[in-house]
Amino acid sequence: MKSEELFLKAEELFSQISQDNEVLRLFKYHSLRVMNFSILLGKMVGCYDDDLKIASLLHDIGKIGLTKEILLKPSKIEDLEYQIIQAHSTIGNNILRKTLNLPRAAVFVRDHHERWDGKGYPRGLEGEDITLQGRIIGICDAFDTMTIDRRSYNQSILTYEEALRELKRCSWSQFDGRLVDKFEDLLNILKLPCPETWKENEPMIRSVFSFENI
Ligand SMILES: [Fe+2]
Ligand SMILES: [Fe+2]
Repeated sequence: MKSEELFLKAEELFSQISQDNEVLRLFKYHSLRVMNFSILLGKMVGCYDDDLKIASLLHDIGKIGLTKEILLKPSKIEDLEYQIIQAHSTIGNNILRKTLNLPRAAVFVRDHHERWDGKGYPRGLEGEDITLQGRIIGICDAFDTMTIDRRSYNQSILTYEEALRELKRCSWSQFDGRLVDKFEDLLNILKLPCPETWKENEPMIRSVFSFENI
């Protein structure tokens, strides 16, 4: 299958699932933004390709089996519930490998919650043992969650500056510090609209990320 067709297949799966599944519906625009951030960051470090595009779009697809009650629980999450949430990287890996037959993209999905210091999941991989693409998705995912996505669950959000400071604070512990520096360069180029004006729709996302000169 050609890469264009592969992406269309992944996109079809994504839109089908984000329509039918109440949990993934919540993540639809988060996933689209993470994909767009990841494409641009990937281009900046020279590793952009369709596997990165598909993996970033589907990075949280493994949450399909979770209930809203666990995922959006306002009180403290129990150990078992945390383990269930963590399983989404492995489930996502299986979906990409077995359903979409994309073993390379599947590894990027598996790696998106690994940490540079080895304290992440599911494997506790360290540093460059984590795929570069997994590290890229991890940074874009964290930034979007802190600045925009939390808003969907009525949780407080950080400003872009605060979130960038947080990424830097976690450089070389949670994140690859070199990629955080590149992400800062990207933010300077992108000029994101203020979070209050973000709208959950595709034209908004297209207009923000339609930056071609990277
Ligand atoms: Fe995730
Ligand atoms: Fe995510």
